[in-house]
Amino acid sequence: MRRSREERDDLEKSCSVAKDSSIGLLRLIAVLIIFVVGVIIGLASSSHIDRYFTLQAGQYYTNYALAPTPTSVDRKCTIVQNCEKVDCLSMDSFLSPKNLTHSLSDEELFWRASMVPKEDEYPYKRVPKVAFMFLTRGPLPMLPLWERFFLGHEKLFSIYVHALPGYDLNVSSTSPFYKRQIPSKKVEWGTISLADAERRLLANALLDFSNERFVLLSESCIPVYNFPTVYKYLIESVHSFVEAYDDPSRYGRGRYSRRMQPHIKLADWRKGSQWFELNRTLAVVVVSDTKYYTIFRKYCLPACYPDEHYIPTYLHMFYGSLNANRTVTWVDWSMGGPHPATYGKANITERLYSVFKE
Ligand SMILES: *[C@@H]1O[C@H](CO)[C@@H](O)[C@H](O)[C@H]1NC(C)=O
Ligand SMILES: *[C@@H]1O[C@H](CO)[C@@H](O)[C@H](O)[C@H]1NC(C)=O
Ligand SMILES: *[C@@H]1O[C@H](CO)[C@@H](O)[C@H](O)[C@H]1NC(C)=O
Ligand SMILES: *[C@@H]1O[C@H](CO)[C@@H](O)[C@H](O)[C@H]1NC(C)=O
Ligand SMILES: *[C@@H]1O[C@H](CO)[C@@H](O)[C@H](O)[C@H]1NC(C)=O
Repeated sequence: MRRSREERDDLEKSCSVAKDSSIGLLRLIAVLIIFVVGVIIGLASSSHIDRYFTLQAGQYYTNYALAPTPTSVDRKCTIVQNCEKVDCLSMDSFLSPKNLTHSLSDEELFWRASMVPKEDEYPYKRVPKVAFMFLTRGPLPMLPLWERFFLGHEKLFSIYVHALPGYDLNVSSTSPFYKRQIPSKKVEWGTISLADAERRLLANALLDFSNERFVLLSESCIPVYNFPTVYKYLIESVHSFVEAYDDPSRYGRGRYSRRMQPHIKLADWRKGSQWFELNRTLAVVVVSDTKYYTIFRKYCLPACYPDEHYIPTYLHMFYGSLNANRTVTWVDWSMGGPHPATYGKANITERLYSVFKE
């Protein structure tokens, strides 16, 4: 089967879906970190964002506490405040927004994010970064593991978190996740709002000109290789990693709507895991597309899931040669059904790690 073929690829990320957060998970983290010391490594992502998105919405609304201690430059360079005292056209604030909170609408944001410099050379020393984009419902149970993963590599990555609106990811000011939440909207499983959230993450990440590769992850992802390995693999790859295949069954072609013709033909229709990795060029084309996105919004309705078809189909139609057609995120579908397997404390063994890395 297709999914199991993917398992053999060398850089995979495992995604264990942790449905029972809280205590069980804390123990699980302890187990993982002990394992991880000295050996592991890497990166991972989860599977489907499930219905929890909506079910658990209510319980994650906490007081929205604004983070304290803004630096003076940050504050003065937000849109209106007095530009006389600070150089608001400085390269610094242009190249990478320091304040991820903004009041742009999606339409304005996507437009800004779609801008590409015409000049090939950069007038500064550009170190390419990997943008890790977390699409979450709220808490990040694997946070300690991720913090460890990122430690010491501060110049080579940026983090973006899309949580439920109003959710405040309460992390210490020393965490790489501190103040990395982007303005978010409600997300419902299986609807176009999931694709919207993915595009919103991409667009916010594109505003930082140093970001070169864009990885979508969820709160249940864990890294399988260490940061230098993941960074090198992604930055040096000539391909982007978006799974795209033709599934003749009712779960693939069966979700195609003839109303998408003539723009999207059945032969163009592709399916793939939601967990993508794109280079900057492809990230820009995804946020700038309105034509095909609109067709999906209108005609890809349940049981058609835009997050499994929109990006794979769109890339296949126009940029197929840039795509490896596989994902770097490992998800265990071996249990069958619409949701991937869940790993609890009992399942985390050394053998499991070797399965991820095979
Ligand atoms: C970030 O920008 C938002 C909206 O523009 C503003 O309300 C907020 O005070 C800014 N935060 C900092 C730390 O400058
Ligand atoms: C954030 O975490 C700190 C320390 O864990 C805690 O004291 C504080 O009450 C939390 N704030 C919110 C808004 O949950
Ligand atoms: C993205 O990948 C394609 C295909 O390898 C390549 O042609 C393009 O230059 C890359 N874009 C960037 C910004 O590196
Ligand atoms: C991925 O599929 C496209 C067709 O959409 C093909 O052109 C491309 O060569 C494939 N990529 C690889 C690495 O096989
Ligand atoms: C995890 O362990 C439990 C108990 O041993 C087992 O029933 C379940 O199938 C395991 N899950 C996976 C994904 O292996």
